[in-house]
Amino acid sequence: MRAKYRPLWLNEEGDLEVLDQRYLPHEELTRILKTGQDATEAISDMTVRGAGVIGNVAAMGVYLLAREFEGDKAKIIQEASKIRASRPTAVNLMWAVDKMVEVIKNSDDVLNDAREEAIKICDEDVRRSEAIGKIGCDIIEDIMKKKGLKSINILTHCNAGWLAIIDSGTALAPIYEAKRRGIDVHVWVDETRPRNQGANLTSWELLDAGVDHTIIADNTGGHLMQHNMVDMVITGADRVTRCGDAANKIGTYLKALSAKDNNIPFYIALPLSTFDLESCDGVKEIDIEMRSEDEVHIMRGLDSDGNPQEIRITPKGSKAVNYGFDVTPARLITGLITEAGLIEANEKAIKELK
Ligand code: MRU
Repeated sequence: MRAKYRPLWLNEEGDLEVLDQRYLPHEELTRILKTGQDATEAISDMTVRGAGVIGNVAAMGVYLLAREFEGDKAKIIQEASKIRASRPTAVNLMWAVDKMVEVIKNSDDVLNDAREEAIKICDEDVRRSEAIGKIGCDIIEDIMKKKGLKSINILTHCNAGWLAIIDSGTALAPIYEAKRRGIDVHVWVDETRPRNQGANLTSWELLDAGVDHTIIADNTGGHLMQHNMVDMVITGADRVTRCGDAANKIGTYLKALSAKDNNIPFYIALPLSTFDLESCDGVKEIDIEMRSEDEVHIMRGLDSDGNPQEIRITPKGSKAVNYGFDVTPARLITGLITEAGLIEANEKAIKELK
């Protein structure tokens, strides 16, 4: 059975069941993953998405491989590399697979140890997101105090809630905590074209949690910031380098630029598993995912009879290009909210964390 804020769980048959995020908010469907190949597909076709949950499904996928290949270490490790390559940008994916492989290499009871480790990786994210929520909410309260605000407007991009990291997310965790503390919070939700994770998923989560929010077209944030309608920005991240550059959903960089120009604090919330200490210059070194141009051409929604439909919005014959992520340089980031504390986005602070 699914616990409320979990987008993945082991079902009664012992298979991995996931909430199929491609159909939200209009249909709540689940998909059952039985093999490592199923996990690879679910990550690359975005049945599951969001850096943390990608890592969780990857870890569970390695467990499914252990079950499939009955503890044959060499085969499991060979097949795990396919899961590891299922998407390129979110480093939690590689982190989780590497952790699983390490456990399997040193195990005398592969099936049991793989299952335990995958469950542990998921459970640890609950603790991480709870801590991020508390630390981030203290920042919210601080901003309100300094500005003498009775209510606060926070802008977020993409989906970094419990659909992206169990149980309450990264960027949304401080917002959920604010709600719990009785703070009057309103969220500007960037629609996040082309896949609309903001319009489809963040709004769905916030609606369910009773958090006041307004969906905006992606190009609206700069205007709102110029008119004093945004007090802070919080986004998640898919990979943060040791020098503090942050890859997140395409369009994040533009929001950070607007925030800088308007003197608005811009925070990135992330678990430690999202740091990539191997790289420094994010623009040069982070592998940015290129996705199908169909995601730009085709939109999904309900028709006037309430039935789910896909429609093409562009002329047939026009080309499109679909960069999944961009990199926000550290100089534009006010701070990194991690489960280990709030730190500056620079090499010294990040190194001291680890
Ligand atoms: O392409 P997606 O939907 O997987 O991208 C997700 C994001 O960019 C999130 O903001 C990011 O993963 C942070 S949430 C843990």
